[in-house]
Amino acid sequence: AEAARRIGGDGQAPQLPETGDAELANLAHVFNETSRQLQSRRENQATLLAGVSHDLRSPLARMKMAIGMLAEEFSSPLLDRIEHDITEMDKLIGSQLELARAQEREMAENTDVDALLVDMVEAAEAQAPGRLKLHSSHTSCLATLAPISLRRCIGNLLDNALRYSSDSKIQVVRRQFKGIIFIGVRDHGPGIPTHLAEVVFRPFYRIESSRNRTTGGSGLGLAIARQLAETHGWKVALKSRSGGGVSAWLLIPEIDSAPNSR
Ligand SMILES: Nc1ncnc2c1ncn2[C@@H]1O[C@H](COP(=O)(O)OP(=O)(O)OP(=O)(O)O)[C@@H](O)[C@H]1O
Ligand SMILES: [Mg+2]
Repeated sequence: AEAARRIGGDGQAPQLPETGDAELANLAHVFNETSRQLQSRRENQATLLAGVSHDLRSPLARMKMAIGMLAEEFSSPLLDRIEHDITEMDKLIGSQLELARAQEREMAENTDVDALLVDMVEAAEAQAPGRLKLHSSHTSCLATLAPISLRRCIGNLLDNALRYSSDSKIQVVRRQFKGIIFIGVRDHGPGIPTHLAEVVFRPFYRIESSRNRTTGGSGLGLAIARQLAETHGWKVALKSRSGGGVSAWLLIPEIDSAPNSR
């Protein structure tokens, strides 16, 4: 029953042993076969989507170039709008491709988690001076994990904190407790209603109040973060803060962390 439930969930059902009583063994065989077919169909869908997205980019680039050339001859607000829309479409396709690629498993390597966080916080500081602060425990944090996926996952959480919390301060925290590394991105923005804390992870879902032009996103950032986390056995969740704002947490089980990490 657990295996069947997981087929419906993340699709990664374990294969059942095809032994014992003939009828049960046969049932297990049918189940395993169905599970393999579903997995393969999911992979085909992701590949197809990635392929279509990729192929759309070349004609779009040609259109953009042509519009640019036309705009040199006649300047018109209509041409500007078309150019703007093409840029938006290109960004959307880029995010779709990123979502499809988030299912690819990146190799884990020895990573200094704090050095990675310092680097990301400095880059974000350059974009939003004076708004970020990193708090980590004084011991170092070395772990064996996929560093690019970690960057992309935290990058999406940071991006949201910067985008939705106007000019207020953002804290990035790193803790370790009971064999789990916790990385938190906390903001003081409008927060997310509790009943939407899971819904916002769905692809293209954006809370009504954020669907305006000034914050314009495509609603894929959290779906990408969740897919990356699932691929690597991490967890990502959003919690409301008592004083308002969101705490976005990434939980990384330390099973593969280096022996000297703490
Ligand atoms: N820190 C936050 N504070 C308030 N609302 C948030 C926060 N993070 C996410 N949200 C809400 O969740 C929605 C989904 O976020 P997600 O990152 O998936 O997409 P996006 O930011 O709209 O676009 P994209 O990340 O693709 O550029 C956002 O549109 C916003 O409504
Ligand atoms: Mg986002």
